Amino acid sequence: TVLVVDFGAQYAQLIARRVRECHVYSEIVPSTMSVEEMMAKNPKAIILSGGPSSVYAEGAPPVPHGLFSTGVPTFGICYGFQAMAQALGGTVARTGVAEYGGTSLKVLDEGVIFAGLPASQQVWMSHGDSVAAAPEGFTVTASTGETPVAAFEHPGRGLYGVQFHPEVLHSEHGQAVLRHFLEAAGCRPSWTMLNIVEESVEAVRRQVGDGRAICALSGGVDSAVAAALVQRAIGDRLTCVFVDHGLLRKGEAEQVERDFVAATGVKLRVVDAAERFLKALSGVTDPEEKRKIIGREFIRVFEDEQRAIMADGPVDFLVQGTLYPDVVESGGGTGTANIKSHHNVGGLPEDLQFTLVEPLRTLFKDEVRRVGEELGLPAAMVWRQPFPGPGLGIRIVGEVTRERLEILREADAIAREELSRAGLDRQIWQCPVVLLADVRSVGVQGDGRTYGHPVVLRPVTSEDAMTADWSRVPYDVLSRISTRITNEVRDINRVVLDVTSKPPGTIEWE
Ligand code: XMP
Repeated sequence: TVLVVDFGAQYAQLIARRVRECHVYSEIVPSTMSVEEMMAKNPKAIILSGGPSSVYAEGAPPVPHGLFSTGVPTFGICYGFQAMAQALGGTVARTGVAEYGGTSLKVLDEGVIFAGLPASQQVWMSHGDSVAAAPEGFTVTASTGETPVAAFEHPGRGLYGVQFHPEVLHSEHGQAVLRHFLEAAGCRPSWTMLNIVEESVEAVRRQVGDGRAICALSGGVDSAVAAALVQRAIGDRLTCVFVDHGLLRKGEAEQVERDFVAATGVKLRVVDAAERFLKALSGVTDPEEKRKIIGREFIRVFEDEQRAIMADGPVDFLVQGTLYPDVVESGGGTGTANIKSHHNVGGLPEDLQFTLVEPLRTLFKDEVRRVGEELGLPAAMVWRQPFPGPGLGIRIVGEVTRERLEILREADAIAREELSRAGLDRQIWQCPVVLLADVRSVGVQGDGRTYGHPVVLRPVTSEDAMTADWSRVPYDVLSRISTRITNEVRDINRVVLDVTSKPPGTIEWE
């Protein structure tokens, strides 16, 4: 294990991911964790993340007491670099000169960290004050125009540091810099997908013993991969429940019922609840109301299924597709921190009397996808873009009816097909297609006047869905989508493009 000590910047997760890209397992711990607790995790190496702009910044967190006397190889990045310098007797100068963005780095001494790398390279900087003098015994290995001490190392003590951010892609050789540190620390590249699968399966076996588990499938990546892993571990003692609320996109229910089952051999109960959801949604136009109804009905159906399954014997475990970012954000994975409530399928009730099985708790999204591939899940499922639990129910502005769902499903399928064909799947975060069911406009199709509805295309790019920008989809792709939708989908005579960023617009319309 490599511990990434989080000093409160948004970079810790990125560092942990980069370490894992070197096939070394990494875990994020808060900087408030004691050195004893850290040592209990038996780390092979420690990385101090970035944080405030300077060790002199207000509220700058201290390095855990005694960290540098543990003998564990340690790498300081940015704030971690300054904190290391200060703690070991170097000096950090209050220059007040800040350096942000791309900067040219001059390597003075290749040493361990820059071995074999070019003498001049672009790096990404983001700091206020600077290290003026390295601690005694350290070699200064790089500088920039503004920063005479931009990197130092003391290989004998296993201590290294850089002022720049090797974890961001703008640092040309950042990944090599990290890898050099990990190699020097003796970390072996053993974190592979195969190992992850084997270890996770083993962990689930230990946790569940000969008990039984249930899992709600949503059609999304996380619940599918979690279920597939648990199935590997305990076979038929896992029962999956798929509540088909009738609000999925074209082909998605079949993907779960047929392809997923074929790929995994999972024991699945499918509940066709479309009728029930439609009835409950009848006459409802308010978005929040819709969400509540869908969530409530989902829980009711799931509880019915749960009772039926328990008739065959007790079930103690509930499988959830919680990912590592959720764990980190809800308390740094320190033991029993509260788990962020999930809204995967409309939200499972909190008071379900189950022990949670969360086989993806240590994984990032991209790792989950690769585990899914390793487990042989259908590509369309593994690479699916985010889709809200309430489904198409919140993409029909107006009342949700069977007919409107059919129309939207066709339009959405065309948009997805054309975006895929244009090779834009990985570039676009997601592209909701929204039916403005209560808006009508005049058109002319064939020889006649039409009075139909518009659909909105909402392609966005995003890192994490918290903020987003509208995607600049090439005009010819938009044109094909528009032509096909208006030709092939009845009642749609207009296609419009949403060019709003988030904020102020949310990604979904409701
Ligand atoms: P908004 O519309 O808030 O969406 O910008 C942000 C991201 O969350 C998805 N989303 C949901 N996901 N249950 C979910 O599982 C929901 O109720 C829900 N509402 C929005 C949305 O698709 C986007 O990726």
